[in-house]
Amino acid sequence: MILAIETSCDDTCSAVVDPDGRKALSNIVHTQTEHARYGGVVPEVASRAHLERLDGVVEKALSDAEVTLDEVSSVAVTVRPGLIGALLVGVAAAKGLAYARALPLVPVNHLEGHVAAAYLTDHDLQPPFVALIASGGHTALYSVDRDRKMRLLGETLDDAAGEALDKGARMLGLGFPGGPAISKAARDGDRDRYEFPIGLKSKGNLDFSFSGLKTSLLYKLKAMDGEQLREKLPHLAAGYEAAVVEALSRKLLRAVDLHDAPAVVLAGGVAANTILRRTIEERCAKIGTHLVVPPPELCTDNAAMIGAAAPHSTAIAYPEYASLNASSV
Ligand code: KG4
Ligand code: ZN
Repeated sequence: MILAIETSCDDTCSAVVDPDGRKALSNIVHTQTEHARYGGVVPEVASRAHLERLDGVVEKALSDAEVTLDEVSSVAVTVRPGLIGALLVGVAAAKGLAYARALPLVPVNHLEGHVAAAYLTDHDLQPPFVALIASGGHTALYSVDRDRKMRLLGETLDDAAGEALDKGARMLGLGFPGGPAISKAARDGDRDRYEFPIGLKSKGNLDFSFSGLKTSLLYKLKAMDGEQLREKLPHLAAGYEAAVVEALSRKLLRAVDLHDAPAVVLAGGVAANTILRRTIEERCAKIGTHLVVPPPELCTDNAAMIGAAAPHSTAIAYPEYASLNASSV
């Protein structure tokens, strides 16, 4: 069994995954609520919270899976990219566990982890496919080759999609994280009431941009008083959410077309969005392309996806990983 640890941002996560990386026996996520009052993740607060929680989260992952440390054959951990202090807590814990048991350690890239959530979802999925990762820190399109190598096709030139949702939610006076908060506020809204720009819409490339969208919301809000904002909030939220969904869907479908992709994977925290999932499902169905979207709990940060990436990542044999370091990029 693979014991996996993920602490790259504000979720303290551990999971037990089968040796093929196709099935999660447990998947424990402790979401840090400490950041809500600041309206965004505070790195130092995140590191400390990981330190306090990780032991308990790992214990629960093992007990939920009914697996003892004796049955663990390797330890997988996110080493990059992410908040450096947060990553280091996970890496140090993983090294300690692996070293004490003379096990190999598997360093995993967080983005490869997001994509690997698809292997837990569709047990027969094999590359090649095109993957969209839309999270709080990244928004990028990749072509995943037969040997699982990820080739960058396009990415955001400014904010990530999740970041745009988080910042938009903040401007609208909604909670954190912004993605679910905007969806909730948008429920009874008319997405066509306000016009929001769709970044790089007519550019032939596969890049994204969300800065114009943010500015557009800012100007709309400047022209309103508190009363008007309360009244128009559902429409503003719905229009803003729809613009993010359209920007992502358009470029993903363009990538499928340009690369003649036989399958598509949607990954990252923003892939938990109901409207995005539905839109991409409809468009893929129309062109007959196989789509894999992990369930929402495997889209947002978790350790099962890190365990799923491990069998195809390069393991470091005991005890060679003593000097292994984490990296923010
Ligand atoms: O992948 P993730 O959990 O962490 C990073 O690696 O960044 O993604 C977090 C991002 C946040 O920006 C959050 O607002 C967004 O995913 N998110 C959502 C939803 N759930 C989380 N965005 C839209 N709809 C959701 N349901
Ligand atoms: Zn993530």
